Amino acid sequence: MTRVLRTRAELRAALARAPRPIGLVPTMGWLHGGHRALMRRARDADATTVVTIFVNPRQFDQAADFGRYPRSEARDLAICAEEEVDLVWMPPVEEVYPADFDTRVSVGALAGPLEGAARPGHFEGVATVVAILFALVGAEHAYFGQKDAQQVMVIRRMALDLALPTEVIACPTVREPDGLALSSRNFHLSPAERAAAPVLRRALLAARGRWEAGERSGEALRAAMRAVLASEPLAEGEYVSCADAETLAELERVQGPALLSLAVRFGPTRLIDNEPLPGPAG
Ligand code: PAF
Repeated sequence: MTRVLRTRAELRAALARAPRPIGLVPTMGWLHGGHRALMRRARDADATTVVTIFVNPRQFDQAADFGRYPRSEARDLAICAEEEVDLVWMPPVEEVYPADFDTRVSVGALAGPLEGAARPGHFEGVATVVAILFALVGAEHAYFGQKDAQQVMVIRRMALDLALPTEVIACPTVREPDGLALSSRNFHLSPAERAAAPVLRRALLAARGRWEAGERSGEALRAAMRAVLASEPLAEGEYVSCADAETLAELERVQGPALLSLAVRFGPTRLIDNEPLPGPAG
């Protein structure tokens, strides 16, 4: 049976009796098939699955974006029950950030480009809340979606640097049949925007196709993504990137593992996606 907890004290008491290992799935709610896949990974590998649902105000660079983030407690709890989650922590904001809270996790170079450049303060907010969640839950494993590839890298770096004992596990992006990556933000797309949104995947696959055909110029791969985005009038490309898979530095030549990624706006809704390029032997 899924137990819903609100306070740090309730969480601590439940965890004290929870069989180990513990698998943590941190979320901001409005759960979808991508989250379900993370819960299943945790359920398969861990004796206790803990899902946290908290729309973290500190990772939104714009108040309006925070305000319009979709929320439904009943819907989310029904999904957690279906997925046989053991514990759901749904704290009010003051349980995560008490009134005298005064600490930030300062993130380094990995958080600089791409989402970090487009959304100032975003990764500091993510790293701060994830550090709190890791400390409170003390899980052996934490599961994150590869759709947010840079987020996974920043969190993994933080966990290593701060010697946090939770292992960060990245899970494959879950997609709609037309290729659109599942995201809570898809909810905001109008029917026309929803029909246009698979352009992100098409752009990534166009660049991947060029790479498979032997193209190694980073700029040519970025241009291939831009060209596909330009063919979709509702899509406003924010960035396209072909970057080193370890440092996220933009590449002139692709000679090892790389990450293709992009951010695209459909009206006020901003979507991201990515595609890894394996190294020469991959
Ligand atoms: O990916 C998300 O939903 C959030 O960034 C996370 C990791 C739950 C932190 O608030």
